[in-house]
Amino acid sequence: MKKIFLLIILICTTCDFLMSQPPAGSSQADRKPDVLIATGTLNTDLVYKVNGRDGRLYQVYLGPKLDNALSLNQSRDQGHLAYPTFGTDNLFEPAIRMTHNDGNPSLELVYVSHNTDKPDANVTITHILLSDPQYPVEVTLNIKTFSAEDVIEQWVEIVQNESKPLILYNYASSMLNFDADKYWLTQFHGDWAEEMKMQESELTSGIKILDSKLGTRAHMYQTPVFFLSLNDKSDETTGDLIAGTLGWSGNFQFLFEVDEKGSLRVISGINPFASEYKIEPGKIFSTPAFIFTYSNHGKGQASRNLHHWAANYGIMDGNRPRYTLLNNWETTYFSFDEPKLTALLDDTKKLGLDLFLLDDGWFGNKYPRNNDRAGLGDWQENKAKLPDGLGYLVKEADKRGVKFGIWIEPEMVNPKSELYEKHPDWILKLPNRPENYFRNQLVLDLTNPKVQEFVYNVVDGMLTASPGIAFIKWDCNRMMTNAYSTYLKDEQSHLYIDYVNSLYGVLEKLRQKYPHLPVMLCSGGGGRVDYGALRYFTEFWASDDTDPLERVYIQWGYSYFFPSFAVCNHITSWGKQSLKFRTDVAMMGKMGYDLKVSELSDKELKFSQDAIANYKRLSDVIWHGDLYRLISPYEENRAVLMYVSSAKDKAVLFAYTLNSRFGETFNKVKLQGLDPAKTYKIQEINIAYEGRRFGPSENGKSYSGDYLMKIGLNVGSGAPLTSTVFEITE
Ligand code: GLA
Repeated sequence: MKKIFLLIILICTTCDFLMSQPPAGSSQADRKPDVLIATGTLNTDLVYKVNGRDGRLYQVYLGPKLDNALSLNQSRDQGHLAYPTFGTDNLFEPAIRMTHNDGNPSLELVYVSHNTDKPDANVTITHILLSDPQYPVEVTLNIKTFSAEDVIEQWVEIVQNESKPLILYNYASSMLNFDADKYWLTQFHGDWAEEMKMQESELTSGIKILDSKLGTRAHMYQTPVFFLSLNDKSDETTGDLIAGTLGWSGNFQFLFEVDEKGSLRVISGINPFASEYKIEPGKIFSTPAFIFTYSNHGKGQASRNLHHWAANYGIMDGNRPRYTLLNNWETTYFSFDEPKLTALLDDTKKLGLDLFLLDDGWFGNKYPRNNDRAGLGDWQENKAKLPDGLGYLVKEADKRGVKFGIWIEPEMVNPKSELYEKHPDWILKLPNRPENYFRNQLVLDLTNPKVQEFVYNVVDGMLTASPGIAFIKWDCNRMMTNAYSTYLKDEQSHLYIDYVNSLYGVLEKLRQKYPHLPVMLCSGGGGRVDYGALRYFTEFWASDDTDPLERVYIQWGYSYFFPSFAVCNHITSWGKQSLKFRTDVAMMGKMGYDLKVSELSDKELKFSQDAIANYKRLSDVIWHGDLYRLISPYEENRAVLMYVSSAKDKAVLFAYTLNSRFGETFNKVKLQGLDPAKTYKIQEINIAYEGRRFGPSENGKSYSGDYLMKIGLNVGSGAPLTSTVFEITE
């Protein structure tokens, strides 16, 4: 058996060797020394090698930290091409493909040099420069490692110095190679109000693609995130896997190709679909970053790595506090006026929340925004609803000691609007085809600098006129269909890419002027959740579905890749569950409210005020503690998770019983992440106002971390749609 295995290795190595024969004409005498390029984090190594024989760059290792990455220099293992091209001898999916201006459709890349930058003690950026020996095309692979967080970003810059433009067809941000017996892909899909549904399947030979073609947003149907487990499926605590995501708010593609030898290539980047890109001489084409973490301790560790990275680097002001808020969308929709809103400011204060967020419907005069069919694009206060303007509401909020925030959707337009009448050429729409509406609206052509200026001025104008505005919810309620840019003329295939880069340009400019203004990212629910946009946003609206039973699954899905402080969860009246259940579900992330406070009974009001006080007291642990998912709603009729502070002196545990059956009972749950030597007091909080306590007999008692992690706790009742929250204190 061993002999057969060795033989297979030998044959495989020979195949790779044959595939990488030196270009015709070169001889052994031309052979240069191999060059090893080791990158890595605290627990992961990603190592490349330049083969001196052909000058090409190979990935020779990705996995747990090696004692000595340099030992790979002795290895005879060729590895796999790090960034394969098209047109010469590559027979599989290329990472990059282009046609030169003389019509030659091939690219060959050989190593030129590499160097590193070290912006701080934790971060290292390795730049590997490759170029075509025959054409003046340079490709730089960039690998940015975040050591303590065990996260790696990869992106690519392409420069050409030919005499005329060339056409780029494929331009991956990253290509990673794996050799395992089996590959398990976990993907997340959904739709409006049903985001982040998880599916796992084995990759078989050939190509599997996860992608989107929505233009203005990365996802709605497929989310730009995945887990890839090697050999065996992973669970929360065991398994080798990578968790990957693309920092891009438009069309994305993850392509998984298992070849004839069972090796896997993962190619990640902007979706090249209908997006060939003309690069002018001297211009740089930069891809967005593919962000990944490698874990050999299962999905839990992978999530915690991403959460830490997101707080420190990935999300705007990740380590600053967030506001708790009252939103009016589900309670008023478009129907409100000044007295109604000032009453909501009172409610914000009464509940003990930080901010009132005024949603859609406050603007438009010739075409008032009284429903979603009119007014979008006309960002002037509606005189009938707000005769004294936004400034008045800001002042009223201030009088009550609460802050004021506002909803906008500046990239879009209703055909029934003054903006549409004035600037028909600012709108993406195909000639000779009917306009195609989604939520009765069209997308503005952000590739046009005049539109960029308009969008910037919508926000800047509003913040200048009412400097007290302390929060923005930035929505994007549709994708592109029947899209054509008058501005781009004969470069329509640039639209998907230029749109997103133009959006980033506007956001960048706004961030220069308003560096710390909290802004919620929203896109018809969770349609635009990605780390490209989150560089400019402090949080995101996870879904328009606020039924707490559904939310357990949706929030569970997001928790794999995004930290709790960024996931906005509102307590609403959608769903028939108790106020306690709704509250406890919202509390696992960034809690807010969107319900009729005036209709709460005294007991409900008191319960909510206490829950908000609990939340404020514990938000640091919930937002920045380490997340341990203990029982998955995909595996049992309940979901249990906990957050543990970095000092392991405080934890908060959430247990949700879902649609359990009559008489269903649950086993004890073993906690994780505590210090075995410490003693912890278990205290149930958010006690139901009916006086019913769903908590366990252990409530109020103290146990060692060792006991809690080896024997565990009874965490809740078997009764359907009940919940418990425990504060666990050293
Ligand atoms: C989208 C958002 C909602 C709300 C409405 C307003 O659907 O997801 O939260 O803001 O727009 O029109």
